[in-house]
Amino acid sequence: MAKKDLKWDSIGFAYHVTDKRYVSNYKDGAWDEGGLTDDPNVVVNESAGIMQYCQQVFEGMKAYTWENGDVVCFRPDLNAERMYNSAQRIEMPPVPKEKFLDAIDQVVKGNLDWVPPYGSGASLYIRPYEFATGVVIGVKPADTYQFRVFTTPVGPYYKGGATPIILQVADYDRAAPRGTGAVKAGLNYAMSLHASVLCHKAGYNENLYLDPATRSYVEETGGSNVIFVDKDNTVVVPKSDSILPSITRRSIVYIAEHYLKLKVDERPVKFEELKGFAEAGCCGTAAVISPVGKIVDHDEEINFPSGMDHAGPIISQLYDTITGIQNGRIEAPEGWIRHIA
Ligand code: PLP
Ligand code: COI
Repeated sequence: MAKKDLKWDSIGFAYHVTDKRYVSNYKDGAWDEGGLTDDPNVVVNESAGIMQYCQQVFEGMKAYTWENGDVVCFRPDLNAERMYNSAQRIEMPPVPKEKFLDAIDQVVKGNLDWVPPYGSGASLYIRPYEFATGVVIGVKPADTYQFRVFTTPVGPYYKGGATPIILQVADYDRAAPRGTGAVKAGLNYAMSLHASVLCHKAGYNENLYLDPATRSYVEETGGSNVIFVDKDNTVVVPKSDSILPSITRRSIVYIAEHYLKLKVDERPVKFEELKGFAEAGCCGTAAVISPVGKIVDHDEEINFPSGMDHAGPIISQLYDTITGIQNGRIEAPEGWIRHIA
């Protein structure tokens, strides 16, 4: 095995075409065996459900190289479960959990040279997705589907890695009450692009969305959940039916309680409360835990005491612990690590 010769510390979060990807097709009520292919291109009919009505769901996860050379994946069973739930919400046949995990194993094993080395700070991002290949023209679910998994080596999602970012409160909503905010479907990201472009043009890193019904509670950003730390070091975690159930966030809650012995308060969080908090962070597979130094809402600015130079102490401890577990330096809770190679 010879690792690819990439500049691992400066690859950023971008697509690199790797060697192998997994493909399986669903037809006549059943998934085929599936397997690896070299072809990164997808060819579908012009009237396929994905092309016309965005019938698609996806996942995001990472594989890491440990110091002893093992290649592992972090809690892939939860990605399998979430994609199953997402597919059901978008009226697609769900990929069975065992098939999903087997596909992840095959793709990672097929791209071992692309899994960044231990200590590089980079990882192999894994993108499982399912979409409608069947032809539709009236609005209805298609009758054939494809499940694919590809990989790409990635570094930090935000330029500057652990440098605090600035969020801007979006004037648009990300999700509707009783809508699809809690599932990982491409349609949720398409509708966030306009707000995201405006946010970047204004010089901010990411949008913070408020609850669509009252616009008084904090939801999440376009690509991560958010967490806060109050002045008593309690980790405050926004709860809502219209945010994605982040695997990173659920892991952070466990780590805060069981590893760091911190209090965790999971509840609806009013935007008004934010000015009283000490630290903030964005959490997700891509974002890991990115510290937030400031939140801007038109002419109102919330400057967290942790500042714009570095993460606050609790966000730092959470970051060190979760990345320590993912990279094999800290013992993981039972069942969190899948050894692939
Ligand atoms: N929220 C949104 C909108 C996301 O796109 C993501 C990324 O997957 C997350 C939250 C974080 O979820 P996870 O920690 O499972 O990656
Ligand atoms: C992930 O963290 O895996 C996501 O899907 C978020 C996306 C913005 C890259």
